[in-house]
Amino acid sequence: MCYAIPGKIVSLDGNIATIDYFGEYRKAQIIGNQNLGLKPGDYIYAQGGVIVGKVNKKQALETLEIWKKQFFELKKIDEKLSEPAHMEKTDIVPILKKAEQNYILTFTEIKKIIENTEKDSLQSIYQTANSIRKNKIDNACCVHGIIEFSNYCESNCFYCGLRCANKKIKRYRMNENEILDAVDYAVNELGFKALVLQSGEDSHYTDKMLVELVKKIREKHGILIFISIGERSIECYKQLYQAGAYGALLRFETSNKHIYSQIRPGKKLENRLALIKELKKIGFVLATGFLIGLPGETTQDKINNILLTKNINPDMYSFGPLIPHSETPLSHSKKPSISEVLKIIAVSRFVDNQSKILVTTALETLDNNARKLGLLSGANSLMIDITPEKYMQLYDIYPGKTKSSKLKEEIKNTIELLHSLGRAPTDLGV
Ligand code: 5AD
Ligand code: SF4
Repeated sequence: MCYAIPGKIVSLDGNIATIDYFGEYRKAQIIGNQNLGLKPGDYIYAQGGVIVGKVNKKQALETLEIWKKQFFELKKIDEKLSEPAHMEKTDIVPILKKAEQNYILTFTEIKKIIENTEKDSLQSIYQTANSIRKNKIDNACCVHGIIEFSNYCESNCFYCGLRCANKKIKRYRMNENEILDAVDYAVNELGFKALVLQSGEDSHYTDKMLVELVKKIREKHGILIFISIGERSIECYKQLYQAGAYGALLRFETSNKHIYSQIRPGKKLENRLALIKELKKIGFVLATGFLIGLPGETTQDKINNILLTKNINPDMYSFGPLIPHSETPLSHSKKPSISEVLKIIAVSRFVDNQSKILVTTALETLDNNARKLGLLSGANSLMIDITPEKYMQLYDIYPGKTKSSKLKEEIKNTIELLHSLGRAPTDLGV
């Protein structure tokens, strides 16, 4: 099963390609130093709005044949499920109408949405966000696989089970061959076209080791690699980009600098933001965002979190609820409710209506239906944990993270869910 549909290049303008998907045109970028020798008529895979590899024509046509009928059927399902809300007269109706018409919402208007707890109004908020999602980015979605290759961390974040002060956790590191095998399996057996390589802040892996790893993956696979390794030097990130890892995932966690320094001892928000902005400058497909439910955050902070993400202008929003972990100083903080998270997804869609918004795995621990609810509240992308089984349990960032189902079953369920919601993994930007 594939998580992206091959598209045919119809024209090239510098590094921007116009691609045909069953008569619909989308744009994707050729980035980095890839020399794919692309020309009109070639078939490609794109992820996150970026071309990640060429596909031979025969293979592309075979895959497209399988997709042909489904592509239009999915659109119909999505259209049905994302009709605009029929709204009762409440004071949020004018705000939602404004969002629908692409107007910028004021701080007070966003606050009204975030503080709303009335059941019918909440439904209207979610439904409006879903309808805007459909109008702006259609039914395209990304399904990224995440491989957690080391749970060692030199940092001591107050919220995270991997913090270095947690002596109870059993630590592991995957060696290069194990990581390469996991990538081969993800690409060849499971069909992923975009993978996140994640670890704690672990200097055991030198810059050189990481660069070698990325090069070896890219020699074999036309996929988008996201690096999620925390704070490293700009030089390290530059080299990783050069080696062919064109994606980076790094959250700023909170827009409140005082809370930031409390929960990430010894660290400053300004340095984090400078690094995130630098990643964007280097050219990375950038995913960033924050935690929902950090103690001490006010509504104003929560709104600032969304607006700061918009301001960074990332390619993907990645935020999720804080799930308290018993071996951390925040063990007694309160989990946010699912509706709080869904409202934040919806507001993110209102303020940045073309964005890609991820339903994170942490959200899935709040409710069995979280993925579906998130996708129907303005989100459009998912991640699947594909860390080898023997390590998956040990990547204990927050409790309840590990799924009991087997990986292939999990993937099957995900595809079924996406189909039931009319979403197609075309995954193109612009
Ligand atoms: N609950 C939810 N998310 C967490 N993260 C770390 N600890 C937790 C937790 N207890 C998130 C952080 C980090 C990402 C890798 O995991 O936002 O950036
Ligand atoms: Fe380490 Fe990241 Fe966890 Fe902080 S959030 S302790 S940097 S793994």
